[in-house]
Amino acid sequence: MTTRICLINQKGGCGKSSLCFHLSGALARMGLSVLLIDCDPQGSLSQGFLGPAFVESLDASDTLAGLFDDQDRVTAPLLQPILTPIPMVSLIPASLHLARYNTPRPETSGLLQFALREFLESIADFDIVLLDCPPNLYQCTWNALLASDHVLIPVPPEDFGTQGLGAVHQAVSSARLLHPHLNLLGHVVTRCDRRLLIHQAYEQKLRQLYGESVLNCVVPEASAFKVALASRQPVAVFCARSKAAHSMNLLASEILQRVHRTTHQQRTVA
Ligand SMILES: Nc1ncnc2c1ncn2[C@@H]1O[C@H](COP(=O)(O)OP(=O)(O)OP(=O)(O)O)[C@@H](O)[C@H]1O
Ligand SMILES: [Mg+2]
Repeated sequence: MTTRICLINQKGGCGKSSLCFHLSGALARMGLSVLLIDCDPQGSLSQGFLGPAFVESLDASDTLAGLFDDQDRVTAPLLQPILTPIPMVSLIPASLHLARYNTPRPETSGLLQFALREFLESIADFDIVLLDCPPNLYQCTWNALLASDHVLIPVPPEDFGTQGLGAVHQAVSSARLLHPHLNLLGHVVTRCDRRLLIHQAYEQKLRQLYGESVLNCVVPEASAFKVALASRQPVAVFCARSKAAHSMNLLASEILQRVHRTTHQQRTVA
């Protein structure tokens, strides 16, 4: 069974794309086949694997924009995942071609809302699909929410990082009206420097506010993530013994445990 997890937060720079990028390496090293969906017109995740020049040269039909036609209708896409240089990791890329479809008020957009969900139902099985969302709650994020089983919210432990979470939670609640089984997998503290008192204080505040929803594993601010990215490899592949790689392995395991627990609970209720 495929598990689909979208990473959302309207806060820019909180580590959504980095987490998708580096988690894919940790999950692949656990033997899981991973499909990454770049839902962000910025195309950061795609550029992470393929480089900016290659991504900019892609036709719209080879990117997630290929879900839509010239009249902004949903097409029956011929879109195929690209094999990345990392074994077991495939990618549906995105680029600026997607920007015109990332409209506000997505819940009023009729069939467009379900384009990604339908597409994911039509393609070959992967163990895990990670969907990287843009820093807003427009059409691309909405499509990802409706196409996912679980939502993961990366949150940096700072004032700006925690602002706007109410709107993110509201978007998840609204998506549940159309997709009742959508599960909030949790909040993950990202880019944390535990030497900083302010980061300690905000981590504690997040745990008080959201309780068990906050994952135990905290993603450290570490240069190893940036160095690995510059080499176009997830840190668990590029530098398997680094602390950063260790944190991705722990996070991947905790995510899988939560997914397993939720699936078990949903089956018991059904
Ligand atoms: N744990 C980390 N340690 C060090 N640098 C990080 C970490 N996480 C992210 N970064 C860096 O911070 C920047 C922003 O990260 P990223 O692009 O993943 O955020 P994002 O949430 O996807 O941003 P956007 O909302 O614009 O899509 C990048 O330069 C990335 O390399
Ligand atoms: Mg991003």
